[in-house]
Amino acid sequence: MLGKFDLDPELDRLREPFVSRGVNDELPWFQEYAVQEPFDYLQPALFCTFTDGTRGIRLCYQGHTKTDTQLDVTLTEPSRSISVILHYRICNTPGLLFRSVTVINNSCMPVQLERFLSATLSLPAGAWNATYFTGHWGAEYNKNRTILTQTCLTLSNTRGTCASHQAVPFVALDTNADEEHGDVVFAGLAWSGDFRMDLEKSATGSVRLSAGLSDFDTVLTLEPNCSETSPELLIGYTPNGFGDMSRILYDWEFDIVCPQSKITQAFPVIYNSWYPFEFSVTQENCMEMLQRAKEVGAELFVIDDGWMIDRTCDSNGLGDWFADPTRFPEGLKPIADACHEIGLLFGLWVEPEMLNSNSDLYRQHPDWVLRDPHQPEDTMRNQLVLDLSREDVTQWCIDTLDRLLGEYELDYLKWDMNRYMSSFGTNREIRFRYIQNLYKIWQFMNERYPNVLYENCASGGGRADFGMLPYADRINRSDNADPVDVIRIHEGFTTLFLPKLAGGAGNISPSPSNINGRSTPFLFRAIIGMTGSMSIGIDLTTCNDNTLHEIRRATEIFKTLRGDLQNSYVLRLKSATEGNVSVLEYLRRDGGVVIIFAFGHGLRYAEGNLIICLRGLDEHATYRDENSQLHSGAALMRRGIRITLKGDYAAQYFIFRRETDIIQNRKKVGP
Ligand code: DGJ
Repeated sequence: MLGKFDLDPELDRLREPFVSRGVNDELPWFQEYAVQEPFDYLQPALFCTFTDGTRGIRLCYQGHTKTDTQLDVTLTEPSRSISVILHYRICNTPGLLFRSVTVINNSCMPVQLERFLSATLSLPAGAWNATYFTGHWGAEYNKNRTILTQTCLTLSNTRGTCASHQAVPFVALDTNADEEHGDVVFAGLAWSGDFRMDLEKSATGSVRLSAGLSDFDTVLTLEPNCSETSPELLIGYTPNGFGDMSRILYDWEFDIVCPQSKITQAFPVIYNSWYPFEFSVTQENCMEMLQRAKEVGAELFVIDDGWMIDRTCDSNGLGDWFADPTRFPEGLKPIADACHEIGLLFGLWVEPEMLNSNSDLYRQHPDWVLRDPHQPEDTMRNQLVLDLSREDVTQWCIDTLDRLLGEYELDYLKWDMNRYMSSFGTNREIRFRYIQNLYKIWQFMNERYPNVLYENCASGGGRADFGMLPYADRINRSDNADPVDVIRIHEGFTTLFLPKLAGGAGNISPSPSNINGRSTPFLFRAIIGMTGSMSIGIDLTTCNDNTLHEIRRATEIFKTLRGDLQNSYVLRLKSATEGNVSVLEYLRRDGGVVIIFAFGHGLRYAEGNLIICLRGLDEHATYRDENSQLHSGAALMRRGIRITLKGDYAAQYFIFRRETDIIQNRKKVGP
C-alpha cells in the first residue's frame, strides 16, 4: 500500500530545480515527468503551445494527496495557471503501477497540447534490452529483443487504430533476464489508437521511457477551465524473468481488468460461418450447419460477415444493419430460435465503425465519413470509416447495437474492424476522441447487456491491446489459422494475454490454409486449437463421418480440459522462436493441474526427441499422469519428461494432476 512507503525523498527530488554548470554536466535524465525543462534535450512527455506562440512549460511541485491505492502529485506552472497532476494507481495485483496525467488549464486562454504522454520512466545505467512485439495482418506478435544503444528507439502506430497489427503498445526492459530469472521492467499502454513509446539511452547508459498518445497529427486544445486526462500506462516490475512478467499480467487480467462476471466461466466452443461460407450465408445453409455444429460439440453458433442487406461481397452492405431479405426471408429470428431450441448459443458479427458508399447510411449521412474535403474518399476493402469522434455518430452506433442485441437476443457479439484510418479532415482531435467514443460504446454494451459474450476482432488481432481488455471476453488473435504459424502467434499473444482470450473464426480451420496454402493433418490443427478458445470453422456438410467423429472427439477432450486450460498460466518451456519444436506448460493457477503441449513441424534429425523440465510445481507434492503413474514434483522439475515428436506435423499433450487435488476431488464426490 502506498501509505506504507516513505515518499518524502522522492518528492524532495521533484522539488529540486536542475542547475546547469556547463556542457559537461550530467544531463537531467531522471525526470519524473519530462517537459523539456532547460537543458533536458530528451523526448518530452508534455509539450504545450500558448496563444502568444510561446512553447514549453516548466513545472514545480505544489502538493500531493494519497489514499491506499492512489497517489496524485500536483505540479504547477504558476505564471501560466497550468496544473499537471501525475496519477499513480495500484491495484490488488502486486508488481503493477498505473500512471496517467491530467492537465488543467486554469488560465483564460486556450492551450494546445502538442504532445501529451502518460508517463516518463527513468532507469539507471545498464546494458538494457528492449523486448517488444511487431508484425502485420496475419502475422501478429512477433517477438523482438534489441539491445538499446545511445539513440532513441520509437515504437509507434499512426493508423488511427489497430496498432497491434504493427506493434503492440507494450515493451519490456531487462539487462540479463530469461524466462524465470532477472529483473524485468515492463510497460503497456491501455489505448487502442495511435501511440508512441520512446526508449532513449543516454551517453552514460541510463534509459528513459516515455509513452502515451501519438503526437502525429493530434493536437488537443484545452479551453480555459478545462482539463484532459491521458490513457493509463501500466508499469510492472518483477525480479523473476519474463515468465513472471506474463504471470503478473495474467493475474491482473484474471482478477481485475477482464469482465469479471464471466472470466471464470468456461468459454463455449464456437462454430463460426466465416471460413466455410464467407459472404454466401443464407437461412438454409445456416439451419443445416447449426445442426451439424451441435452434433460435433459446438456450443455457440456465430453468423459472421455476410448476413446484411446486399452483403454478397465486400463492396456492399456495411452500414445498413438489417438481415438481407433475399437470403434471410424471415430475418435472423428463426436461426436464433433454432439455436436456442437445440441448446446452442447464438452470436452475430458486426462491423459498426464502417460503411460502404453503396449503403443507405452513406446516402443519408455522407458527412459522417472520415474524409479530406479536397481529396476523393479513400477506401480499403471497399469501405469507409465513420467519424466516431462525433457524438451523433456514436449515438447512432449505440442505438444500432442496442437494437441488434435486443431484437435477436444475442448471446455473443463479434465486433470487427477491417481497415486502417486515413483522411482526418481538419479536426486535429479526431484520433483521440474516436477511441474515447469507441470505449463509450463498448461500455454501453457491457452495462446494458452484461451477460452477452463479446469478441474484440479487428482483422484478426489489430486491437489486441490493454485498452480493450475491460470490454471483451475474447480477442481474435489473428486471421491466420494455419497451425504452424499459430504456434508462434499464440506464444506471442499469450506472453501478454490470457489463453482463454485467444480466439479466431476457426482454429479447427480449413486445410489448406487460406494464408499460406499449407495442408496439415486434422489432429495437429485440433490440438493446437485447444491451446486457446476453441472454434470450428470448417464446412461440416462436406466432412465425411470419420472427420465429423474426429471433430466431436476433439471438442469432447477439450471440454474435459478447458476448465483447467482456461484458468492456467502459460509457461514457455521451449520457445517457438528458437526452432521447429516448442513446448508450452499450462499450469492451473492453484498449481493443481499441469498440461504440457509439445509441437513439432518439419522435424530434422532427432530434434523431436527431448527432455523437458517442468516449472512452477510443488517439489514435495506428487503428480499423477494419465497412465496413473506417480511422479514427484521435484522429479518433474529436475529430471523432466521425455517428449518424442516425429514427422512433419507432430502434436502431443501430457496431463499431470497433483495427487492431493485428486484425493480432495474424490472426497468431494464420495458418500
Ligand atoms: C476479419 C475477421 O478477422 C474474420 O474473422 C472475419 O470476421 C472477416 N473479417 C469478415 O469480414
